[in-house]
Amino acid sequence: MAPSVLTLGLLALILSQHTVIAEGGSHLISRQANGTVASPHFTAISDYVDSITDELSTINTEIHSNPELGYEEVKAHELLTSFMEEQEGWSVTRSVGNISTAFMAVFDGNGGGPVIGFNAEYDALPELGHACGHNLIATASLGGALAAAQVMRSESLGGKIILFGTPAEESLGGKVKMLEAGVFADAKIDISLISHPTSAGDSPYMTTTSTDRVDVAYTGLEAHAAASPWEGINAQDGLLVANSALSYMRQQMRPSERVHGFISSAGSRINVISAKAEGSYQIRANDNTQLANLTTRVENCFKAGALATGAALNFTIRPYGYANHVTNDLLAASYASYFTQQGGTLAPAETDKLKDPSGSTDQGNLSHEWPSISPYFQIFNEDGSAPLTGPHTRLFQVAAGSSRAFEKSLVVAKSLAGVAVDVLTKEGLLESIKEEFERTKTPSLRRRGSAVFGVV
Ligand SMILES: *[C@@H]1O[C@H](CO)[C@@H](O)[C@H](O)[C@H]1NC(C)=O
Ligand SMILES: *[C@@H]1O[C@H](CO)[C@@H](O)[C@H](O)[C@H]1NC(C)=O
Ligand SMILES: *[C@@H]1O[C@H](CO)[C@@H](O)[C@H](O)[C@H]1NC(C)=O
Ligand SMILES: *[C@@H]1O[C@H](CO)[C@@H](O)[C@H](O)[C@H]1NC(C)=O
Ligand SMILES: *[C@@H]1O[C@H](CO)[C@@H](O)[C@H](O)[C@H]1NC(C)=O
Repeated sequence: MAPSVLTLGLLALILSQHTVIAEGGSHLISRQANGTVASPHFTAISDYVDSITDELSTINTEIHSNPELGYEEVKAHELLTSFMEEQEGWSVTRSVGNISTAFMAVFDGNGGGPVIGFNAEYDALPELGHACGHNLIATASLGGALAAAQVMRSESLGGKIILFGTPAEESLGGKVKMLEAGVFADAKIDISLISHPTSAGDSPYMTTTSTDRVDVAYTGLEAHAAASPWEGINAQDGLLVANSALSYMRQQMRPSERVHGFISSAGSRINVISAKAEGSYQIRANDNTQLANLTTRVENCFKAGALATGAALNFTIRPYGYANHVTNDLLAASYASYFTQQGGTLAPAETDKLKDPSGSTDQGNLSHEWPSISPYFQIFNEDGSAPLTGPHTRLFQVAAGSSRAFEKSLVVAKSLAGVAVDVLTKEGLLESIKEEFERTKTPSLRRRGSAVFGVV
């Protein structure tokens, strides 16, 4: 173990007021503040992740320093699939769901039992590289899946561990596409595990918004801007009216609702009335029901632009919107017990899970189909400072490449592996998880389309 891992662990231990780490013996048993006993398999999980730290570090660094955009992650895909092919007992399918950079690696246990899915992301952002830290997500899921499989192997447990390579999380909805292709359903997963780095605190509760992305185009009529402007229909003005209407609407939006975007073109010549204006906007709301409502209101703002100017509007909702992420409480509690056992501190679940949603993820759609967790983990710069800005910024991209961030991803890997082992070994746990899932289920809307409004 690198010295800095110890430093991080010690620091976290000092900061933690609730954790007791009992050492000695082959089974390390630790108790959380409320007396929950963590798994006797934790030592095996932890030792296994420690034993593959060098390989995980190489993969983490390679992905971080070779950023690739959604569906073009050929290097990351090659790196991960060839590594998994070398692992004893794993069978790898290099392409699934008709997506060349999506893969599946399966470890079969000793007969039937729970099927645990781990998702690895590895796409980067245009111009910003790994500013969302997906390299760390890949590392945590890779390490977690391998460690869980090791326990399955040594304890002859039934069930299956599946590592899914899930490309194109940034805007393109790799997991939604895989979901539609039936990849997860065909694999008969029982639960879905993933994690996400953040510049804020650690939390097993990822709460994200439901989101849709829309493309808008106004078509007007060109005219000489000085000689005969009255003959023209100004497409640019249609878009500007809509953008202003959206700005007014923001005052009457719920705290976690968002509408943001950009105007991509609005004309090209000073002396010609603009006949074409285009933009792209993203809409986010607490859940699918509120998203449907907000999307209608947004569409009305765009219609206002068309009505005011006479330009025709093409309002198109892109495919692969993301549903809000719903965290399964029992999975979160299991994660929390392993995370705190390693010195991590977490806010009380009762308040933590009520925080306002922010951001969106395609894991959200999976969380409406299967019990899911995607814990947030806080990352730091090489010198121990927190990045000044969060995901999707250059400063976060730097932190995502630090050795401290890598070490934190190992803590997460061990915690996710612990969750998997709990589900595999604790009598009745999976049934309770599924019971909670059914009880908290909300409708997942399937709504897509394009609407053309007005005539030129
Ligand atoms: C698979 O994707 C290719 C393009 O990448 C497409 O031409 C083909 O129709 C797809 N096949 C299926 C079964 O969806
Ligand atoms: C959105 O919801 C509000 C409050 O429930 C309701 O008054 C309004 O009519 C809805 N708007 C649309 C466009 O569905
Ligand atoms: C509306 O825009 C979408 C793409 O944004 C395009 O596919 C569609 O053909 C357009 N419809 C019309 C009627 O122009
Ligand atoms: C203790 O915490 C565990 C895991 O965080 C949770 O499952 C359990 O319900 C808690 N028990 C009590 C008595 O609060
Ligand atoms: C994913 O969620 C979005 C937003 O709720 C929804 O529009 C879309 O239909 C969902 N897709 C699938 C395959 O579940």
